[in-house]
Amino acid sequence: MGQNDSFLARDRHFSLRRWKMRGETLANKSADDRSGTDFYPTPANVTEALLYWLNLPKNTTIWEPACGEGHMTKAIKAKGYHVVSSNLHDQGCGETGVDFTTLSKCECDWIITNPPFKQAEEFINTASKMGVPFAFLLKSQYWHAARRGSVFDKYQPAAVLPLRWRPDFLFGAKAGAPTMEVLWTVWDAAPSDFTEYAPLDRM
Ligand SMILES: C[S@@+](CC[C@H](N)C(=O)[O-])C[C@H]1O[C@@H](n2cnc3c(N)ncnc32)[C@H](O)[C@@H]1O
Repeated sequence: MGQNDSFLARDRHFSLRRWKMRGETLANKSADDRSGTDFYPTPANVTEALLYWLNLPKNTTIWEPACGEGHMTKAIKAKGYHVVSSNLHDQGCGETGVDFTTLSKCECDWIITNPPFKQAEEFINTASKMGVPFAFLLKSQYWHAARRGSVFDKYQPAAVLPLRWRPDFLFGAKAGAPTMEVLWTVWDAAPSDFTEYAPLDRM
């Protein structure tokens, strides 16, 4: 299967689309665009720090199922991995109209994304049934909420990796230092017995 082929089309009737990276940044988007689709592109070094920690073999195929404009896709590709990209909305990257939370199969080796924050739990539940390892970028306080205790316990992560810096999700569009702290959470293909805690340095 080529990396531009639609692996989803076998499962669902999605049309194949060619890559069309527009290279737009969040600075060009209105606040409505951002909040309406929960679109916040991820600076490359956030993805690079995860990939450095994971140290996956270069023949790994990674699914980016909420690819937005392709910031994370591009960073993964730049490290030499195969990437399959999809998104619910058409933001100029990958196969569009694909609601990750409705899917049940993954034909890639890994799933890596920065999910829409409002649907993070649905993304975790969906991915945990697919039988492959996955890593999601979440707000740093994500696991502090009492109501998420059951999410953590039901499918225990292999690692929680807080970033030792605050990424600029606005790509310089707003003055002042970035305020949002985030962490990667990594799950194995099956629930883990313990969770490693390992802060990541900026690449
Ligand atoms: C926080 S942004 C991250 C974009 C990209 N992963 C990145 O890091 O640059 C979340 C993305 O999820 C997409 N999205 C929202 N709901 C979705 C769903 N149910 N299935 C797939 N993608 C979805 C949005 O269109 C948006 O592009």
